Amino acid sequence: MRSSKIIEKIKNMSIEEKVGQLNQIQLEDTKQVRDEIRRGRVGSIILADTATAGNDKQKKINVDLLNELQRIALEESPTGIPLIFGRDVIHGHHIVMPIPLAEAASFNTELLENAYRAVAEEAASDGVHWTFSPMIDISRDPRWGRCIESFGEDPYLTSEMGKAAVCGFQSDDYKSTDSIAACAKHYLGYGAVEGGRDYGKTEISEYTMRNYYLKPFKAVVEENVATVMNSFSEISGQPVASSRYLLYDILKTELGFEGFIISDWASIAKLVNHRVAKDEKEAAMLAANAELDMDMVDRCYIEHLSELVEEGKVSEETIDKMVYRVLYIKDKFGLFENPYTEQKKVNFEKHIAIAKQFSDECMVLLKNNDILPIKHSKRIAVTGPFLHEKRSHLGSWAPDYDAGILKSIQEVFLECEDNDKIVFAELPYLWDDIIPTIRDVDTVVIVLGESAKLSGEDNCLTNIDLPREQLEFAKKIKLLGKKTVGVMCFGRPIALGEAELYFDAILYAWQSGTCAAQSIVDIIYGKVNPSGKLPMTFPRVTGQIPIYYNYPSYFGNGMAYYGDGSNYWDCKSTPMYPFGYGLSYTNFEYSQIRCENYILTLDELKNGETFKVSVIITNTGVRAGKETVQCYVSDRVASMTRPIKELKGFSKVFIEKKACKEIVFELGLEELGFYNRNGEFCVEAGEFDVFIGRDCMTDNKVKITVMNIK
Ligand code: NOJ
Repeated sequence: MRSSKIIEKIKNMSIEEKVGQLNQIQLEDTKQVRDEIRRGRVGSIILADTATAGNDKQKKINVDLLNELQRIALEESPTGIPLIFGRDVIHGHHIVMPIPLAEAASFNTELLENAYRAVAEEAASDGVHWTFSPMIDISRDPRWGRCIESFGEDPYLTSEMGKAAVCGFQSDDYKSTDSIAACAKHYLGYGAVEGGRDYGKTEISEYTMRNYYLKPFKAVVEENVATVMNSFSEISGQPVASSRYLLYDILKTELGFEGFIISDWASIAKLVNHRVAKDEKEAAMLAANAELDMDMVDRCYIEHLSELVEEGKVSEETIDKMVYRVLYIKDKFGLFENPYTEQKKVNFEKHIAIAKQFSDECMVLLKNNDILPIKHSKRIAVTGPFLHEKRSHLGSWAPDYDAGILKSIQEVFLECEDNDKIVFAELPYLWDDIIPTIRDVDTVVIVLGESAKLSGEDNCLTNIDLPREQLEFAKKIKLLGKKTVGVMCFGRPIALGEAELYFDAILYAWQSGTCAAQSIVDIIYGKVNPSGKLPMTFPRVTGQIPIYYNYPSYFGNGMAYYGDGSNYWDCKSTPMYPFGYGLSYTNFEYSQIRCENYILTLDELKNGETFKVSVIITNTGVRAGKETVQCYVSDRVASMTRPIKELKGFSKVFIEKKACKEIVFELGLEELGFYNRNGEFCVEAGEFDVFIGRDCMTDNKVKITVMNIK
């Protein structure tokens, strides 16, 4: 239902005032900014100092300044419409959660929702109304630095995580003063940039778009995400910022998105660089006619839209629709009722506890030759370039982090019981300087990683191997006959084909936020049982990219691409570690999978009937633990090639030692169907395999038949 209050307001606005609502400017404490607000030329302010705010130091938020600017908008501008303040609050504010890719490794949507609720409370208390998160770009290429901001390669996992993030930020009560509007980005296909080069070209067919890239956006639109940001990229020759087909026909009409679209930083002006517009005026015309609602910082709208309306090149009706969407969200998030920020006392202790659980649950044990957990009474050495590191554990996008509570791995080890059993081998100038220090221990923990500057926006790599000097260092320690534990603090998946040989155990710790160091030490000593699973495939070598599990059945042997068949002469074709993979300190056994109803008809499915598939999981080990039970579907024969397997459900469960649990998945039309060559969602009669297992390589399956009978 359209709000008559907003319609009335728009009727009384001049074209300049309307265009002002579509203009987002950068925050500056200047007379010019105050004047622009006073003249009704500003609808929103982005609290960012640079275009790549995740990479650079940002100014601290000044709530008094925000309140003062808000007062000018309310009391001195012609419309009295409040400003909406946006900031990139991506995976944390003062307390920083793991990077989103690591969050996805937790496979814990409830935890993610709680975490983002905590983040929203902190940000709202600092005057942030709107965050540019979650990023729900499917990413299959670890060379692309922004894969760290994604939830990985799978549309279903990304959708579930994306929905949880939106619910966490926005809460059930949008108007509450600790809810913030979310922004799903970057619509569409940004993660598919060729070669992992940020901002580059993408080539996505309609079939691939609907069956992979669009799905998470559909999911968050259904969850009422307030805003969507366009991608910088072009898709098959059409920059998204000027694509009416993508922005209006698909997002607004087909998916029914009711919020507003914000352009990514200067992406309207960049239509000139794409050479689809001859100048910024033409760029403004194309973007407005595509109904891209708000212009982030490049001033194309504020400089040209009024004139374009006068010239009849953009209709006033279009502008009205765009303004409506912006005011609708301002109203929905309570800005008319509560425009000012009153800083609240935030319960940081509670947020730290959530961050700790998150870093505990996202770390992935990749290898363990009976070496972890280590007993406190055992003598160990700890070394490596990340011994003292703090900031890099936060990853990209943490402009407001609380530095005071960050600890290095060495600091946490020093707080442990029996810390006199630990020797710290400082990274030497001459590597053999450490030999005397580690001579008397048989186990060496080597803490490795990449700096937070190596990933994130515009930070891409051609080679994702473990950095050569780190590999050589580990190799030398291994050649001394030591047992080695590799703790790897990276933002992206790395290629461990060669390095893996030099480690007896590998804990993939990612960049896991404020509590990363504590979680690493707790996992090493077994206080925490690791439970993370990979949200992105780990290749053996960089040259295997792209490698993702939900690849279509193809000309070769069905699994040649991801399984044992061979495409390359110089490398095994299997991934180093597959999607969904991760070890625990206990062992979970899966019983034979069962289905309550092996035969269904198409009509039953279309009428909403579902069927249940279940399995019993037994913890046969000697300690309690959490397991992510994963359900995959495979369409045996279809009119189009379908993925070898597709994730359709997961459930993270805690099971006491020697106990068992039944896990049930309910599947139906949604899980068996796909978008066909006409862009229609369909289920085709035939046989399907439903798998339930510990990762995407599971063979534990049951066959379902869908019949086309009345
Ligand atoms: C550019 C990035 O692509 C986007 O994700 C971010 O939200 C904006 N800059 C604003 O900082």
